Amino acid sequence: EKDPLVIFTPSGKRGRFAVGTPVLAAARALGVDLDSVCGGRGICSKCQISPGYGAFSKHGVTVSATALTEWNSVEERYRSKRGLIDGRRLGCQAKVQGDVVIDVPPESQVHKQVIRKRAEARQITLDPSVTLHYVEVTEPDMHDPSGDFERLTMALRDQWDVAQVRADLSVLTRLQPILRKGEWKVTVALHRVDDAEIPRIMHVWPGLYEGTVYGMAVDLGSTTIAGHLCDLRTGEVLASSGLMNPQIRFGEDLMSRVSYSMMNPTGAAEMTAAVRAGMNTLFSQVAEEAQIDKTLIMDAVFVCNPVMHHLFLGIDPYELGQAPFALATSGSLHLTARDLDLHIHPSARVYLLPCIAGHVGADAAAVALSEAPEKSPDLVLIVDVGTNAEILLGNTEKVLACSSPTGPAFEGAQISSGQRAAPGAIERVEIDPVTKEPRFRVIGSDIWSDEDGFDVAIATTGITGICGSGIIEMVAEMRMAGIVDGPGLIGGPDQTGTDRCFKDGRTHSYMVWDGSATGGPVITVTNRDIREIQMAKAALYSGARLLMDKFGVDHVDRIVLAGAFGAHISPKHAMVLGMIPDVPLNKVTSAGNAAGTGARIALINRKTRAEIEHTVGQIHKIETAIEPRFQEHFVNASNIPNAVDAFPNLF
Ligand code: FES
Repeated sequence: EKDPLVIFTPSGKRGRFAVGTPVLAAARALGVDLDSVCGGRGICSKCQISPGYGAFSKHGVTVSATALTEWNSVEERYRSKRGLIDGRRLGCQAKVQGDVVIDVPPESQVHKQVIRKRAEARQITLDPSVTLHYVEVTEPDMHDPSGDFERLTMALRDQWDVAQVRADLSVLTRLQPILRKGEWKVTVALHRVDDAEIPRIMHVWPGLYEGTVYGMAVDLGSTTIAGHLCDLRTGEVLASSGLMNPQIRFGEDLMSRVSYSMMNPTGAAEMTAAVRAGMNTLFSQVAEEAQIDKTLIMDAVFVCNPVMHHLFLGIDPYELGQAPFALATSGSLHLTARDLDLHIHPSARVYLLPCIAGHVGADAAAVALSEAPEKSPDLVLIVDVGTNAEILLGNTEKVLACSSPTGPAFEGAQISSGQRAAPGAIERVEIDPVTKEPRFRVIGSDIWSDEDGFDVAIATTGITGICGSGIIEMVAEMRMAGIVDGPGLIGGPDQTGTDRCFKDGRTHSYMVWDGSATGGPVITVTNRDIREIQMAKAALYSGARLLMDKFGVDHVDRIVLAGAFGAHISPKHAMVLGMIPDVPLNKVTSAGNAAGTGARIALINRKTRAEIEHTVGQIHKIETAIEPRFQEHFVNASNIPNAVDAFPNLF
């Protein structure tokens, strides 16, 4: 007679096992993903499964109603003391008794799918670098002397198949009382990024530790620092928080911070201390929000641009301020919280993604990890828009990268009525092509202004200026309404037929909103504003065009706008302006904060770290500053939308 057939769902894996085989052992033998912290002792309940009863025609098996019905004393005790949901069994105690279909619920899967990237149909599964293991350690013996750590090591080897471990001094100093408190039963947190490396003991708890451990994914930007606190046993984001980068007081943009460090002997050190202090504030904020002890944060992943990377590490960014823009190190880094003065678990590990080049940082690498251009069958252009635009172009064949100095105009800086995206800022614009009258929407109100340019919501919030996405729409709408010509000149009232265009020094300006009668601001678009936007968008476009030249193509299949700002840009207006190359509008998508997503992926799945290190090694870096074609593209791209390139999807 054949052994019973066991089928696991959702994996569909199946095999025959002798009557009496524990379900956990059957799962292990088939490579079915079933969790366990206590190693099958019936105390952690992480191995819960739901056996199916009745006929399962789908799998061609009729399941005997008696399969898995016997309860042993360990499972009984767990059920009576702690309770088990109806229909659930402990996989380590329930034994195969006949043909059976066994479902592994998501919470019992270690490698559950946590992030799904819809566009690419990619699935990111949970595989954190920190794992928990309950062990029973042999007590010391006068006749057979050995150290407590050595006996703990043996227990891990025998009970968890971990051949070797290492531990920081901070773990060793606390080990003995913990072993005794737990009566030689302890739970160990192990950290390992690569299967080939010797795991490191991060922490030891007496007895069975039933809590969880946490990780942080941090996007360290020049303006803001954003972090996600993740539960490393579920992959769930428990809290997200952000704060202004405290380095702002040393300079708004990166280059002014680099020059601060050049001009002040202690400048770099001051900025390093400031950003680390900011980081600790962020850790406290998320820990408070999620109501957790921040010393349980044991793993952290950071992504940042090259200047922030150096300042965070305590490296003077001097060399990044001048050609040939050499990085102190471009590789990925494995450090400890202690190295960086971070107040989380003292042995917490810190991982920094690799930088791509002197101007293309670990943040761009994180975007690449999130958007995976190297896996894309169609040619994708990815732009992360900020004061520096990082641009990636690629497909399965190859990936190219460059950065382009767009300057801060897209963030509303250097624009006469510009401001950050905050309540009161004009964010959406329409201009009537006949009357040349503007309608707009202001952040803090979701109502468009009426024909007279006024509505109730605006009256209560007050218009204060135009933000980055607003200025892009404004200039594009002005171009479409014939208020601005291709070279970027605002016409006078005679040419445009509206008094909103008025003489302003030697050029003309366009009146958007005159609030002077009620003591409000006067918001205009000057010809200098148009010029600033032309420079910024030309830089972005020529970077993309240069990569297309290098790739040997004259069009791309799709465009991904990354970054917080990318999420707010209207693809149509960006294209009318000639910021991005021509492509069908439905092929332009926003990836949101792709750098932050990349950091989260590297945090919850340790194997993606080697993946991105490999990808970064394969990326071809293009330095725009030394490419003569860049200048040529730049001149053409100063026109709106472009002096030579056509936009058949628009016009
Ligand atoms: Fe811990 Fe089953 S493995 S209870």
